[in-house]
Amino acid sequence: MATEGPVVPASVAEVPITLPHLEKSLVDIKTGEISQEETLPFDPVTLKEKYLAERDKRLARDQGVEQYVLLDDHLSQYLKDPWVEPGFTRDPIEEETDVVILGGGYGAQVVAVRLIEQGVNNFKLIEKAGDFGEVGFMPTEKYARAKELLKHSRIIGEKYDLYSRALFQTEVKDMRWNEEEGKWTTHTARGDKIKSRFVIPAAGPLHRPKFPGLVGIEEFQGHSFHSSRWDFNCTGGDPDGNLDKLKDKRVGIIGTGATAVQIVPHLGEWAKQLYVFQRTPSSIDLRGNRPTDEEWAKSLEKGWQKKRMDNFDSIVNGGFEIEDMVADGWTDIIRELLTAAIDPNNPVEAAAKRQLADFKKMEQIRARTDEIVKNKETADGLKPWYNQFCKRPCFHDEYLQTFNRPNVKLVDTRGQGVDRITQNGVVANGEEYEIDCLIYATGFELANEWAHKTGMEIYGRNGITTTEKWKDGAMTLHGWGSRHFPNCFWVQIVQAALTPNFMHVTNEQAIHYAYIISECLKRNIRTIEPTQEAEEGWTDTIVKGTALRMDFFKECTPGYYNNEGKPSKVGARNATYGYGSPAFIKILTEWRAAGDLAGLDIRFFPVPSAQPVSKDTNTTETTTKSEKSAQVETESQPRVNPNPGTPASRSENKSIVQRYSDLQAKHQTEINDLVWRHKGEIERLLRKHDV
Ligand SMILES: Cc1cc2nc3c(=O)[nH]c(=O)nc-3n(C[C@H](O)[C@H](O)[C@H](O)COP(=O)(O)OP(=O)(O)OC[C@H]3O[C@@H](n4cnc5c(N)ncnc54)[C@H](O)[C@@H]3O)c2cc1C
Ligand SMILES: NC(=O)c1ccc[n+]([C@@H]2O[C@H](COP(=O)([O-])OP(=O)(O)OC[C@H]3O[C@@H](n4cnc5c(N)ncnc54)[C@H](OP(=O)(O)O)[C@@H]3O)[C@@H](O)[C@H]2O)c1
Repeated sequence: MATEGPVVPASVAEVPITLPHLEKSLVDIKTGEISQEETLPFDPVTLKEKYLAERDKRLARDQGVEQYVLLDDHLSQYLKDPWVEPGFTRDPIEEETDVVILGGGYGAQVVAVRLIEQGVNNFKLIEKAGDFGEVGFMPTEKYARAKELLKHSRIIGEKYDLYSRALFQTEVKDMRWNEEEGKWTTHTARGDKIKSRFVIPAAGPLHRPKFPGLVGIEEFQGHSFHSSRWDFNCTGGDPDGNLDKLKDKRVGIIGTGATAVQIVPHLGEWAKQLYVFQRTPSSIDLRGNRPTDEEWAKSLEKGWQKKRMDNFDSIVNGGFEIEDMVADGWTDIIRELLTAAIDPNNPVEAAAKRQLADFKKMEQIRARTDEIVKNKETADGLKPWYNQFCKRPCFHDEYLQTFNRPNVKLVDTRGQGVDRITQNGVVANGEEYEIDCLIYATGFELANEWAHKTGMEIYGRNGITTTEKWKDGAMTLHGWGSRHFPNCFWVQIVQAALTPNFMHVTNEQAIHYAYIISECLKRNIRTIEPTQEAEEGWTDTIVKGTALRMDFFKECTPGYYNNEGKPSKVGARNATYGYGSPAFIKILTEWRAAGDLAGLDIRFFPVPSAQPVSKDTNTTETTTKSEKSAQVETESQPRVNPNPGTPASRSENKSIVQRYSDLQAKHQTEINDLVWRHKGEIERLLRKHDV
């Protein structure tokens, strides 16, 4: 999917975690004061007012996320994958495996590899596309291009024998938990039924296209498609460009986010006429792509990649490193904005200094636009008026230059967006632009329900769905596990951490899940899921972290970083961990090191242990003597808290009736659970007493 990225797996991107959070009044006053300390080429107070006015212009539409339509029913053709082999059929499969991994992207691949490293070899990957996608190895350039990324993901597929475990062109429709069996059944659109003890949905964070709710989309008579479903039949060429079928076409592109920034230079090069419909400009800084230095590559020693990833992650989260090993636009901006001469003990001054650094950075970005774009009106239209991390910063060396071509026109809608689509083209600012090929670079569903983003549902214990459970926002422990969804591990950014090198955190999640699954196999654990307390505690941490960033995002122009300018309770819960990815990774690492599976509700197989799953299909179970002695609890005796010294063992001297009523007072969900598990006996009791 990505066409740029540094040398490490995947590359740059995403939302920064440690953002400056600013009180408007303080900043205005403070920046005013600070501006007197040095001669600034701009007035910070006027600049702030301009930012807020630009935001208000967009907020006045009062559209929030509702402005986007869901690609169901009449617009579902925009979801079709144009690259898969048409007419592919196969018989449905019914089989059993230890783990089902949903997806075949980078995330699913890294999970598979980490499972193999833990000796868990018996798994299946289910991917609706026709092949693996993404990844980064030793690319020929600092930011690898699509073909190279695809090649590398295929190499991983071959090296780890993932192809033999993958079902491609197979869309998962649902996953259902069966309590009696202690297993999931994954149903696919091809009629497959695959049972497994564990499931790992890795369905991707930015996967389902998002469309503006414009009148007339269906009426358009030319070719149209979403950027993520590129139609080479219409454009010609391949992922390197060479879009030769556009030579005689008038092309329109709606959207100027990170995706459009990568596409526009190719369209500008090939189209007879290109119209770029802009609502809000992106911040475009220097990318500085360059060939990989072969001598440097040869000099690298084992472990270089991890060091480099850690170094990058530390810097982009505001940490101090003597050396900047990646040294690109991301590390440059964040070093300037988050660490430059800031006294952490004086938060008001720190916020003001950060705001000042941000103003300077954005002034530099706007000046760069003037330097590159020759037409003054176009250059002005391309200038972003917001703080750097209100939107995803972009880096490109040909985007702005493309607007100097005579066949390229910026249609700046000044925050209003296009008006509508007609049979012949696009209406913007009241004028119709006739178009043969229309590309929607309008982004991806992020704030929607998990089930909608993935086109499937997960049914946990008692048939509860993710949609029901997360209707007021996600509830998880560390972003991976949710109560009533036993043995289920989400690979997601929600309630986990996000960092510019996206795959850094995904890799840590993969290591974490592989550890827990292998521990379940070793310790004869039948099911694990977060306790109610652990899940509530973590969700609270996420919500508090979001509150820290709220002031910053309130001042931002709307976009998917701030729920389109409408902060909400659901949004606060569906956010990422607010204290940075290094801190998040530390939490996971320390949790594993403690070895006590804290915060998990653990249920064991009955003794003597019946073990339907082996750690490795080729080896026998490796349970040790001490682990066996810990297996006294059975499925009918859930071991809610395995740790000595915790409330469960402290209350040993209370009667079971007292302890039960304590539980009733505190944990209604667990009671419901117990009732469900002992339904038969309870019903007998109720009948006996005629209740
Ligand atoms: C245009 C673009 C460029 C990006 N560039 C970068 C970058 O340079 N660096 C970076 O770090 N991040 C980048 N990202 C973020 C990027 O999405 C992730 O880094 C990476 O793709 C995440 O891998 P993943 O496997 O979790 O998700 P994905 O790569 O999205 O894979 C998820 C897979 O699940 C499959 N799937 C979903 N639902 C179902 C279902 N019901 N049944 C079967 N299969 C299903 C999908 O077909 C998909 O292949 C980019 C995102 C976009 C949209
Ligand atoms: N190389 C990389 O690392 C890379 C490359 C591409 C994407 N990505 C990832 O993917 C994410 C999504 O990027 P994206 O560009 O696909 O989506 P996006 O950032 O959500 O951008 C969508 C664009 O569509 C515009 N838009 C929406 N409705 C419109 C309307 N009615 N009229 C006119 N314009 C309209 C938006 O304008 P507004 O801004 O006004 O809302 C915005 O410019 C990125 O943030 C990044 O995380 C990464």
